[in-house]
Amino acid sequence: MQGVIFDELEKYIAKELGPTALTRIRSVTGRDDRGYELGATYPDNELSTIVGVVVAETGRQPQVIVEEFGEALVPGLLEVYGFLINPRWSFMDFLLHTEDVVHRGVRLNSLNAQPPALQAERAGSDSVAITYRSKRAMCALAKGIIRGAATHYGVGVTISEERCMHRGDPECVITVSEAEV
Ligand code: HEM
Repeated sequence: MQGVIFDELEKYIAKELGPTALTRIRSVTGRDDRGYELGATYPDNELSTIVGVVVAETGRQPQVIVEEFGEALVPGLLEVYGFLINPRWSFMDFLLHTEDVVHRGVRLNSLNAQPPALQAERAGSDSVAITYRSKRAMCALAKGIIRGAATHYGVGVTISEERCMHRGDPECVITVSEAEV
């Protein structure tokens, strides 16, 4: 997974658990004070290790932590990749174009990046159904990013997950509807 994700995860941990938690985590991953280069790629299992430490220290469910992190991640993603976002897009347009414009742009920009395959289609005038497939099975991150993006666009959302890899389905299907704030 790309360094930008790890770098934001470190910021999230420092904010939620304090700087000493970050030092403990860096000693577990062996990263010490080196941190992460935004454009470099790091092993996915390092992310699971870090989430595992946060679970052990907080007693919270991994999916809850990952979703919360996804929400916190959006401003950092926009700092690096905001140039890919069409300023005329509504929140729904943004969701509909994450795959063909944003994740595609990420892949072209950094050849090692492997964002997940998303398929988004309108499910109603104010809702979009997103099919998510990835060997990483991080639909919690997807739901968090959707919430963070809704905050960025200043809209309220309701999110439901009709199918989920964690319940034995071959893919996750997440429906996002705009709701009154
Ligand atoms: C601001 C717009 C977005 C940007 C710039 C962005 C960029 C990225 C980047 C750089 C990665 C890491 C890829 C890698 O390490 O190889 C990633 C992963 C991911 N993205 Fe996005 N993304 C955006 C929006 C979204 C949205 C709207 C969703 C969900 C609907 C989403 C779902 C995910 C997930 C779940 C991953 C984790 C990797 C995986 O599951 O395989 N992203 N994205």
